[in-house]
Amino acid sequence: MRKRKQPNQTKIISITSGKGGVGKTNIVCNLAYCFASMGKKVMIMDADLSLGNVSVVLGLAPKYNISNVLYGDKQLKDIIISDKNGILVLPASSGIPELSNLTETQKMTLMSRFGDFLSDIDILLIDTGAGISSNVIYFNLAAGEIMVIVTPEPTSITDAYALIKVMSTKHGQKNFSIILNMAKNEKEAKGIYKHLGIVADKFLKVSLSYAGFILYDENVSKSVIMQKTAMELYPESKSAACFKKLAYDIISQDEDGYSSGNLQFFFNNLFKKS
Ligand SMILES: Nc1ncnc2c1ncn2[C@@H]1O[C@H](COP(=O)(O)OP(=O)(O)OP(=O)(O)O)[C@@H](O)[C@H]1O
Ligand SMILES: [Mg+2]
Repeated sequence: MRKRKQPNQTKIISITSGKGGVGKTNIVCNLAYCFASMGKKVMIMDADLSLGNVSVVLGLAPKYNISNVLYGDKQLKDIIISDKNGILVLPASSGIPELSNLTETQKMTLMSRFGDFLSDIDILLIDTGAGISSNVIYFNLAAGEIMVIVTPEPTSITDAYALIKVMSTKHGQKNFSIILNMAKNEKEAKGIYKHLGIVADKFLKVSLSYAGFILYDENVSKSVIMQKTAMELYPESKSAACFKKLAYDIISQDEDGYSSGNLQFFFNNLFKKS
């Protein structure tokens, strides 16, 4: 039986990156699959407001998005969809302006609707866009727990550094976790993390923690073509083992009572008065 969670204990994690195409959406969907298999109630917020593709990766076809709540007559329950494994998805909307540009009334409308509906979610994963646009920064700041995806490509590392730099120097965010994706092996992953950590510490006075790594595995791209997660299609693959370990580590941290977020706090941040 599912353990009752304490009120206000929702883990809110943004999965983000400086460079595009580093595997955010696949990591979000595969982690969500793992969490759902562990009996957790998990929701993905597709926060890539212009090019969201969580639904594509999960083989879902959402009819509505946040703009239908904001401008139409839909309730949140009408726009949130569930895949057959119980993963809830809040679809992206290319139809709404940057969230920071919403009016106070619009923010209040969304706030109240979100707050009621989401109180029993255990984990909210936010799949952000790439780069340093205001929307990416906005969702990351609201989430509090930020996981930056990096691959061994030098451009991905320099772009991750640029994102961390903006978030720390302009917005005072000092804690980030790093996930190495498409790694050859654990040694390579840890080496890149260490290098990035030294530079971030020296020049930005920011502490990076190592969340884990996902091996390069062609089964991930094969699964995208099939519009299912690698976890579901290739549970014995090398990437699946990494996704499972990462999910387990994230949950263990949660169950130690460490870094649980508060959904109301998240939505307050997201829709706060500017
Ligand atoms: N561990 C991996 N091994 C091999 N291929 C991978 C791995 N992770 C992701 N990929 C592939 O990399 C490509 C980009 O992945 P994905 O769409 O998840 O990245 P993204 O960071 O969400 O991109 P965007 O910035 O455009 O939103 C996909 O084709 C995916 O199959
Ligand atoms: Mg993506």
